[in-house]
Amino acid sequence: MDYTKLLQKAVVTSCSVSLFWKIIRHMWSSMNVEKEPVKVLVTGAAGQTGYALMPMIARGVMLGPDQPVIIHMLDTKKAAETLNGLKMELIDGAFRLLRGVVATTDVVEACRDVNIAVMLGGKPRKDGMERKDVMTMNVSIYKAQALALAQHAAADCKVLVVANPANTNALILKESAPSIPEKNITCLMRLDHNRAMGQIAEKLKVRVSDVKNIIIWGNHSSTQYPDVNHATVATSSGERSVRDLIADDKWLNTEFITTVQQRGAAILKARKFSSALSAASAVCDHMHHWLLGTPKGTWVSMGVCSDGSYGIQPGLIYSFPVTCKNGQWSIVRGLKIDEFSRAKMDATANELIEEKSLAYSCLG
Ligand SMILES: NC(=O)c1ccc[n+]([C@@H]2O[C@H](COP(=O)([O-])OP(=O)(O)OC[C@H]3O[C@@H](n4cnc5c(N)ncnc54)[C@H](O)[C@@H]3O)[C@@H](O)[C@H]2O)c1
Repeated sequence: MDYTKLLQKAVVTSCSVSLFWKIIRHMWSSMNVEKEPVKVLVTGAAGQTGYALMPMIARGVMLGPDQPVIIHMLDTKKAAETLNGLKMELIDGAFRLLRGVVATTDVVEACRDVNIAVMLGGKPRKDGMERKDVMTMNVSIYKAQALALAQHAAADCKVLVVANPANTNALILKESAPSIPEKNITCLMRLDHNRAMGQIAEKLKVRVSDVKNIIIWGNHSSTQYPDVNHATVATSSGERSVRDLIADDKWLNTEFITTVQQRGAAILKARKFSSALSAASAVCDHMHHWLLGTPKGTWVSMGVCSDGSYGIQPGLIYSFPVTCKNGQWSIVRGLKIDEFSRAKMDATANELIEEKSLAYSCLG
């Protein structure tokens, strides 16, 4: 194709601005210009979610099929050998988009220049441990890693906290590193969001991709509130309300909510291990939509810093419905909240307020 002539034609005759940009885009892609690799840090990478997540990142599930990546993996010294094995597997995977792997137990090396940080690292609750003991261990990890990210990550690094208590770990990270913009710190609620979509799709026997605008409000815990009041399903006769289609308020207000709230426990009971595959997939969904945008007319649930919307205490990391554009999330405003929802949204907010004061007391 003679691009010069085509360009001249488009510009000289001013025939079409869109034609002009079409040609530029075509020229750019045919020149085979590769994007700069994005550096993705995964802490706790030697754990089971890390194992499921790594090939997804390396295959472009998180950032798209044309985005090269360099993966930084951090874990404890105890897990160093496992981490090294994972690095060998990533090399053996011969992933087209993978431009490098760093496997380290040094937090500074792990955080250096990363553009994205997925925080899976943390200590699980073991038999005989008090809630406060687990909180103490995790808040100190998140305080230390916040400082490392603030000092060594790229200036606009986007952080996703997954390790539990996810919302409160994210809160501690935010408060320990005020130089990281609040807007860049989120926690994972997308697994709960996807679980709720799955339950509705199963109940209505429709494709999960036809269900949209479910909301998870609040904490990633059993007090979270899965809300279908604004959710719809695409049908042959247009978009229909989930509540109307299901026509069973009792089920929606009881069994549906508890199934979503207790899904993690049910999987743990069945598998003897906690959810890892669905968690890894949800991590990719969260980052994908955050960075590349949510489809028009669709929102997703993300744990983000409250600005007081819907009466939620400012500063808490609370799950809201959000839309994303140009790498920025915005809380969906103006949704009608009924009395039933209000009570559930407040209950989960109160749990987060309690967790926050427990976390502060652990930090001393
Ligand atoms: N928010 C969610 O929806 C969601 C979903 C699934 C799992 N989770 C949580 O995510 C976390 C990871 O889950 P998993 O199943 O992979 O757990 P896992 O126990 O298999 O892995 C955790 C990893 O973190 C590492 N680790 C501990 N302390 C660390 C530190 N200071 N720095 C770096 N790494 C450290 C451990 O060595 C381990 O390899 C858990 O806290 C889990 O509860 C949250």
